[in-house]
Amino acid sequence: MCGIAGYVGSRVVRDILIAQLKKMEYRGYDSAGLAVVGGGGIHAVKVVGHVSALEQESINQWLPGNCGIGHTRWATNGRPSTKNAHPHTTSKVAVVHNGIIENSDELKVFLESNGYSFEGETDTEAVAKLLDFYYDGDPMIALNKVAKRLKGSFALGILFFDATDAIYALKKGGPLIIGLCAGENFLSSDINAVLEYTTRYYVLEDDEIAIIKKDHVEVFDAQGVQLSKTENVADWKADLIDKQGFSHFMRKEIFEQPQVVTNIILENIRDGIPDFEAAGVSDEYLKRFKRICIVGCGTARYAGLVGKNWIEHFARLPVDVVMASEFRYQNPVLFADTLVVLISQSGETADTLAAARLVKDRGISSVGIVNVKGSNICREVEHVIFTQAGVEVAVASTKAYIAQLSVLFLLSLKLGFVNGQLAQDRIHSLCNQFIDLPEILRQVLREKEAEIQKLAQACVEYESIFFLGRGLDYLLALEGALKLKEVSYVNAQAYAAGELKHGPISLITDRLLVIALVTQEAVKEKIINNLREVTARCGKVRLLFKAGMQIPADLIEQSLQLPALEDFLMPFLVAETLQLLAYYSACAVNANVDKPRNLAKSVTVE
Ligand code: G6P
Repeated sequence: MCGIAGYVGSRVVRDILIAQLKKMEYRGYDSAGLAVVGGGGIHAVKVVGHVSALEQESINQWLPGNCGIGHTRWATNGRPSTKNAHPHTTSKVAVVHNGIIENSDELKVFLESNGYSFEGETDTEAVAKLLDFYYDGDPMIALNKVAKRLKGSFALGILFFDATDAIYALKKGGPLIIGLCAGENFLSSDINAVLEYTTRYYVLEDDEIAIIKKDHVEVFDAQGVQLSKTENVADWKADLIDKQGFSHFMRKEIFEQPQVVTNIILENIRDGIPDFEAAGVSDEYLKRFKRICIVGCGTARYAGLVGKNWIEHFARLPVDVVMASEFRYQNPVLFADTLVVLISQSGETADTLAAARLVKDRGISSVGIVNVKGSNICREVEHVIFTQAGVEVAVASTKAYIAQLSVLFLLSLKLGFVNGQLAQDRIHSLCNQFIDLPEILRQVLREKEAEIQKLAQACVEYESIFFLGRGLDYLLALEGALKLKEVSYVNAQAYAAGELKHGPISLITDRLLVIALVTQEAVKEKIINNLREVTARCGKVRLLFKAGMQIPADLIEQSLQLPALEDFLMPFLVAETLQLLAYYSACAVNANVDKPRNLAKSVTVE
């Protein structure tokens, strides 16, 4: 989603801004722009499309100065166009913005009555014009006045035409950091975009205003009092963003999954038992909780649903799983003995971040399961268990989901252990099976890819796909359907197989394909009966089943067999298979696999 870049120093400003924006490209965007202040004014370049187009467009432009801001925009208010792209400029200011200004209509009316007119449809244009209106030579006065009038969430990077040595930043909501370096400083919505230049940074908090010059940075609170900020040091390296010979990031990331699970094993299993001490999550800490509430969005929430199944089974603790966008507005009932687990790949999803803040404000304990180090959610939770998946570039989450499942699986065993529900030999046996998992994930990739590709060819011939399952298989069906629709645009829905006859069965025709997940012994007969309901109505069925299961001959045709693991571990193999199915379906329809239409990797607005 939208990205903010800023640079002040003696290098070529445009080059540094472009380099920063490229680091944020994977988040998803539809237009890009930059502005530099110097040579008597502000000079901006904006394009619809990629940062490479911005690079081309700006190559021969006169962009004098030592100070600039840049932006990648993912359209919310107003379609992608150069008018709507950021920076928004007037003769006095340039503004880049992440977030949403909720009262922009009201501000536009006010500004129109003061002689301003609007060219585009964005809320950000109102911010630029409001700053222009209030600016009389003192940036801080203008910024304070504007900050008081804005409602919503905003991270802003600002240039003033006659302040050629400074970037101004203002924040309420979305993430903003200031990268610190000798003789040059950076502004960014993502620390990872500046790690190439520096590991030292300040985190800008809500209602703070920063003045960033090449030799020093000043930060003020809403009352104008100068703050003494704590310097952070990033102790990780920026990941290499490279396809390494794979045709798409999505396939590369699926193939990285065995290694990701190995990373999690190495980090979180000690003496054959899950161990989260390194993350500050001790046995004593976990023993305090009598209920769990898992919060996340999209794929992260679907991982949470699988986590609920495991925790309820292994630890016998009640678990709620709530969409972050609902959680934050439903006045959730949280008790002192509730542990809230917030799951997020990016660590920046606006709704999950707001949920984390709500939990913190209530004084309730929280653990984040997060992939991106240095992200906002990490700062709002009591403890963070990192998912060790490395940078995930493809918009559709694959390896981060497997990593979330891995952490949840180990956490469920740990909770079972500390609550006396899982005996030591049982936990050892489950951990040992988990330690073998990377090799089996590799085996599926090696042996099943061609078959999955064939099934994908069949999928895209149908108008719609139903994914059916029971128990854990139903929870995997949800993620499988999401993945398929995200990347291939095939209409896909997931149902608990037992629910089929309560409505969805009316949609069964020979134009609809049912993909049935059959890996759970306890409900195998039940789902087979449900599939009979489908075939009796001319519905087409393909099975994904566990080796060794007795499946009726007529259903076994054109079905896919997965290696047999204990039922609790089958979700990992099903997930990997359904990810490849989505991937090859997207390839079959020539979709933009890594950047599906309308989607963003990191959703920093509600
Ligand atoms: C977006 C992405 C999804 C992701 C969801 C939650 O919708 O497209 O792939 O699952 O956000 O993201 P998070 O970073 O919080 O896991």
